[in-house]
Amino acid sequence: VEPPRPLVLKTDLEPEVDDGKKKVTIFFGTQTGTAEGFAKALAEEAKARYDKATFKVVDLDEYADDDEEYEEKMKKETLALFFLATYGDGEPTDNAAKFYRWFTEGKERENWVENLQYAVFGLGNRQYEHFNKVGKVVDEILADQGGKRLIPVGLGDDDQCIEDDFTAWKELLWPKLDQLLRDEDDVSGATTPYTAAIPEYRVVFINPNEAAHLEKSWSLANGHAVHDIQHPCRANVAVRRELHTPASDRSCIHLEFDIAGTGLTYETGDHVGVYAENCAETVEEAERLLGYSSDTFFTIHVDKEDGTPLSGSSLPPPFPSPCTLRTALARYADLLNSPKKSALGALAAHASDPNEAERLKFLASPAGKDEYSQWIVASQRSLLEVMAEFPSAKPPLGVFFAAIAPRLQPRYYSISSSPRMAPTRIHVTCALVHGPTPTGRIHKGVCSTWMKHSVPLQESQECSWAPIFVRQSNFKLPADSSVPIIMIGPGTGLAPFRGFLQERLALKEDGSQLGHAILFFGCRNRKMDFIYEDELKNFVERGALSELIVAFSREGPTKEYVQHKMAEKASDIWNVISQGGYIYVCGDAKGMARDVHRALHTIVQEQGSLDGSRTESMVKSLQMEGRYLRDVW
Ligand code: 2AM
Repeated sequence: VEPPRPLVLKTDLEPEVDDGKKKVTIFFGTQTGTAEGFAKALAEEAKARYDKATFKVVDLDEYADDDEEYEEKMKKETLALFFLATYGDGEPTDNAAKFYRWFTEGKERENWVENLQYAVFGLGNRQYEHFNKVGKVVDEILADQGGKRLIPVGLGDDDQCIEDDFTAWKELLWPKLDQLLRDEDDVSGATTPYTAAIPEYRVVFINPNEAAHLEKSWSLANGHAVHDIQHPCRANVAVRRELHTPASDRSCIHLEFDIAGTGLTYETGDHVGVYAENCAETVEEAERLLGYSSDTFFTIHVDKEDGTPLSGSSLPPPFPSPCTLRTALARYADLLNSPKKSALGALAAHASDPNEAERLKFLASPAGKDEYSQWIVASQRSLLEVMAEFPSAKPPLGVFFAAIAPRLQPRYYSISSSPRMAPTRIHVTCALVHGPTPTGRIHKGVCSTWMKHSVPLQESQECSWAPIFVRQSNFKLPADSSVPIIMIGPGTGLAPFRGFLQERLALKEDGSQLGHAILFFGCRNRKMDFIYEDELKNFVERGALSELIVAFSREGPTKEYVQHKMAEKASDIWNVISQGGYIYVCGDAKGMARDVHRALHTIVQEQGSLDGSRTESMVKSLQMEGRYLRDVW
């Protein structure tokens, strides 16, 4: 049966033609690589479908240097696809920040995208208040300014199966692209099914006895001017101590990285990115499941032996090699998150037992959607747990690192010190992630577990170290120190405020005038997890903090949270707002920050005697003016 002819609509909006080929730009704003992976996968699939078009995958950060260049280049785009992840408090990813600032700055730019046809796929998590904000905003602004939206914005939800959302969005996109990118007489590829090849690195094994001394590690650029996610700097752990008392059944670590002489600098309120290692137990389990010994020594390549690139551009960036399997698994492989469907497909291809292969294929297929979301996502089954269930699946290392185990990502922490007090140290306040999952596995957070077991310089010259870098934030004290502030930070949400208070103390000692400062802190019980209690009291005694208000949630018969304490202090909070003061919130985004936001809303409404919509716009304008700042995760 001949496939149906695609319907061809002739519009004024023809994609720009270059060398006889229509040009499509695929932009991505990625943090952990998912958006980038989708962009590349889409490009590969599209290339196979449309031979009369070219597809270019572009990192938004590298697209243009400044606003002018963004404007100039964007104006010339005729067909663009956007993959945009949203983070934290509705923020863009680091590599999309420059673009997003320019794009949303509200300048009048009439009809500047009138030649553009576009589609946006957002990557987010429905558990967060600002679900997919960045994708939605870009989609709306483009439509408002004259762009032609091909299909509704895709709302990828990482809480469930974002790969399914991507697949569903693509199914809407293809008919539109068929109209635009195929000629009337070209029906050849209309229904050609496309199966993405499983990506694979070329791996060359080396005799460990001959070459173990060659092991390469991070290209740690200590002393360089720039340290970022790609160029972290090696920092020793100088101090590590437990912040909870022995009465607590949980753990919270105070850690200090030594940055003396590294060239790394930071400001109060910034974040530190830490590349930790998987613990030995996890690495050994992975070695056992893969069926290789830990001293397996190899190099990893993205090109063929003759130097030509491996087919397919969807490979994640490789890691430094030669290295041992132990190093590769410890530093670069994400082994404890749930596997993606594409990883299950790759495992299936290497399962020697046909029953196992069948079941893996089913889990990876659209028909297995419910089973995937139950058996994998809801059960929080880790990649290693899944591999243990399918012992015949033994992928080669080149496939394992390219298609099965994603790259281990850095973890971000709000820095809990101020460079005015600790110029050569970066302090971190980290709650240990440790608890049972529905399958009975004890999940141990990679970085917090590493920190908990790290050996500080205070104990041994052979101390632990990690590649780290600083990410700037806009969570900063007012430029004028006499402006009053309110800080709300229960649990480890206290971290940046410890930095703020160190900074204020230093300012005071330098003779600056300090405005009123109230800190709302919350913990379970003063005998267990009242972290930095002595320091906080000291800040009060020395005048860096005017009022310390603590909500203990598990001392009395009812839960007492920071927002309850805020309600009791409603008039003081209103005074700070009325005097042009700042409000800062740090901590858990899903519960606390949302509840605190509501409490603030109520305070503004009642104290200001405002109606609902005036309250709304007042809180909005506090946010717009940068006087209501949130550092939430
Ligand atoms: P809980 O664990 O007793 O519920 C730091 O984690 C503190 O924040 C704890 O005292 C915790 O109380 C509290 N907390 C939990 N959920 C919260 C929420 N939605 N708003 C404010 N505080 C919360």
